[in-house]
Amino acid sequence: MSEEFEPRIIAFCCQYCAYSAADMAGSMRLQYPCNVEIVLIPCTGRFDVILALKAFESGADGVYVAGCLEGNCHFLDGNIRAKQRVAYLQKEIQKIGVEPERLAMYNLSASQGPRFAEIVNEFSETISRVGPSPMRKNLAA
Ligand code: FES
Repeated sequence: MSEEFEPRIIAFCCQYCAYSAADMAGSMRLQYPCNVEIVLIPCTGRFDVILALKAFESGADGVYVAGCLEGNCHFLDGNIRAKQRVAYLQKEIQKIGVEPERLAMYNLSASQGPRFAEIVNEFSETISRVGPSPMRKNLAA
């Protein structure tokens, strides 16, 4: 893969945990790649397959969902439903030849700023390894 490839990543972050953890990571001045676009959602239960597909279609090379720790969702089981949707979509994209690791689910608490930075680094490394997404629209058009 070209060494110039910088993956574009979209992260759907729950406002109660992952988004707060991202804030904390920023306040702590933790280093993580700047190629992640964070989309605030009220709960990962709001995440659905269409959101992920639209993110890929708009040029994302990787998409992840970050929600509260299991058992701590403010809407009871939103993060469990999100986990199921992520697992479902991973299988579906694999059927059309897209690497399932382009989609992931993470759980963390609002106080885990360092974990947020770690996740961004880990996921960014994974997507750099698998390369540009074949699901991008023809950007040259
Ligand atoms: Fe955070 Fe549901 S409120 S995942």
